Amino acid sequence: MGTGIAQAALSSGYGVIVIAHSENGIGVARKRIESGFEKAIASKAITAEQRDKYLKNLQISVDYKTLENSELVIEAVSEVRKVKESVLKRIEAHVGNNTVIATNTSSIPISILSNSLSVKGRFIGMHFFNPVPVMRVVEVINGNTTSQETIERSKRFAISMDKTPVAVNDSPGFIANRLLMLFINEAATALDEGVSTKEGIDTIVKLGLHHPMGPFELADFIGIDVCNDIMLEIYKDKRDVRFKPSRTIAKLVREGKLGRKSMEGFYKY
Ligand code: CAA
Repeated sequence: MGTGIAQAALSSGYGVIVIAHSENGIGVARKRIESGFEKAIASKAITAEQRDKYLKNLQISVDYKTLENSELVIEAVSEVRKVKESVLKRIEAHVGNNTVIATNTSSIPISILSNSLSVKGRFIGMHFFNPVPVMRVVEVINGNTTSQETIERSKRFAISMDKTPVAVNDSPGFIANRLLMLFINEAATALDEGVSTKEGIDTIVKLGLHHPMGPFELADFIGIDVCNDIMLEIYKDKRDVRFKPSRTIAKLVREGKLGRKSMEGFYKY
């Protein structure tokens, strides 16, 4: 998700610094961004010259000090509260008081994450969708301490990236994942009950409901672990069993079958 956001921001003319979690991660991030640009070139959305120009504005580092002059920083690490809180603290320690700090959390309430920061008014949720360069909406989530100025700056940033910002009040899973996770979980429960095969369910959703991907293809695309974490985050708050990950989802996570990224999830790749 982080590299997708970086690619989209570069394509909108921004200078982008990506913080990788390790020296190895630097090469991985660059490759992902370059391959995203290859797709954009293949579909004639950009030219090779534009790609070269955008890549000149990209810096990838493991050093948080490089963030010191940033106008806006978007945290996009794993969907685990402790991990996010520790990264947010590190970001805050290195940027100025006027920098907007956004989290690309998929489900964790902004007002909970804001507890890890000392200057809270400039903290906000900006939830992007995968693949970021293609998907046209951003959920802009205000926590109970987010300032109006931060909301306006975040919306302007989303618009400048040719995305539609939609204001959402703070609630676990916000809107998109509250709906999507119920959908994926119910599909997995129907699979567990033997109502149809995964191929059958995906085909019905694609051809009958006109979704670009079936629920299992989409879960593999998002990451089964990410879906599981989001469901648990919403379940923790709502205590609604419909959000409790289905048997198959829990089993896939235990077995490390996390979707496309691990070459196997509901399907083999
Ligand atoms: N950069 C630029 N363009 C890209 C790209 C990238 N990284 N990735 C794909 N594209 C472009 C392709 O070049 C192609 O462009 P053209 O149509 O102009 O040729 C277009 O996107 C479609 O891509 P493909 O032809 O490769 O493949 P496809 O037609 O099968 O579409 C898909 C792929 C866009 C992913 C489509 O299947 C889709 O929309 N799937 C649903 C995705 C979705 O629901 N995302 C939200 C997930 S939820 C989430 O992200 C939030 C969360 O918190 C979990």
